[in-house]
Amino acid sequence: MKRILAIETSCDETACAVVEDGVKVLSSIVASQIPLHQITHGVVPEVAARAHVAQILPVIEESMKQANLAPDAIDAVAVTQGPGLVGSLIVGVTAAQVLSRLWYKPLLRVNHILGHLYANFLGREQLPQLPILILSVSGGHNDLVLLSEHGKYQVLGQTQDDSAGEAFDKVARMLDLPYPGGPEIDKLAKLGKPGTFQLPRAWLQQVPTGMRPKEITDFNFSFSGLKTAVYVLIKKLGILTSEQKADLAYEFQEAVCDVMVSKLVAAWEKYQTPSVFISGGVSANQRFRSLLEASFINKPVQYFYPLKLSYCTDNAAMIGAAAYFNPQVISETLEPEPSLWL
Ligand code: KG4
Ligand code: ZN
Repeated sequence: MKRILAIETSCDETACAVVEDGVKVLSSIVASQIPLHQITHGVVPEVAARAHVAQILPVIEESMKQANLAPDAIDAVAVTQGPGLVGSLIVGVTAAQVLSRLWYKPLLRVNHILGHLYANFLGREQLPQLPILILSVSGGHNDLVLLSEHGKYQVLGQTQDDSAGEAFDKVARMLDLPYPGGPEIDKLAKLGKPGTFQLPRAWLQQVPTGMRPKEITDFNFSFSGLKTAVYVLIKKLGILTSEQKADLAYEFQEAVCDVMVSKLVAAWEKYQTPSVFISGGVSANQRFRSLLEASFINKPVQYFYPLKLSYCTDNAAMIGAAAYFNPQVISETLEPEPSLWL
């Protein structure tokens, strides 16, 4: 049995978790900075970093308390080393280095996106079957990945500009919705109706405007054009009624989810994996989930989204899971340094 204490501070959540054998979450504490960033409708890096400094120790303490463990019962310390906001990352990495040296435990450095790929292992009684096709979509990234075995993965496609989460946040801002915009658009779109507006989809393949490719061969993504299209439409319409806002939220969400699910299905047709995951903050989106379910019904595949909404957005438990399944590529064992004690 291996227990990992994991720390995540790459953006605007200060998080610490204790995870056993990569799946069993003994504790997962997340101190959200959302109210702080609502004032500015987005994350100001300096503000985020300072909030991490204030939160990191209480979050680690609470995580150990809820797991009800002494440091001796921890086998390794894991931490998100990037990508992310540098000032935010430094806080988590520094805390992890201190704990690793203080407790004489190996330090495992984890890529944040790898963490999102492993969020679907958390809390599972039965492990999903490999290979796995994963679409991970957050505020900062959009990746379609083929995980053939632990430690071995191939990136099939990535965003060429904005991630879907970034587009959700910015379009929400254009519609006067609070930060973070994804959950707000998710809610508002339910009140919208189809057909009022038409928005483009970036397939990144040669097709006449408004058409879909016969066969999807490009698994990259682009959402900045859609963001601009919404902006131009709002400028043209002037002051929006609440009905127009809901219809626009609906069409925008359809445009994003249509492209994501169509590309995921096309990639699955090509690779025919036994499992498909969606993960990252945007995998909390209800329309995305229902389109996924409808597309994979009657196909020989098991699809997964994180068991809890809190495992979709940034958390440290997913970092603990990724560290457990990938120690060979990311471990860095610190030799005890007795001089520390002198
Ligand atoms: O994974 P995450 O917490 O942080 C990053 O690594 O970026 O993802 C945050 C993103 C935000 O853009 C947020 O608006 C989006 O996930 N999000 C959603 C939903 N819940 C969160 N987007 C669409 N629908 C949702 N229900
Ligand atoms: Zn993330």
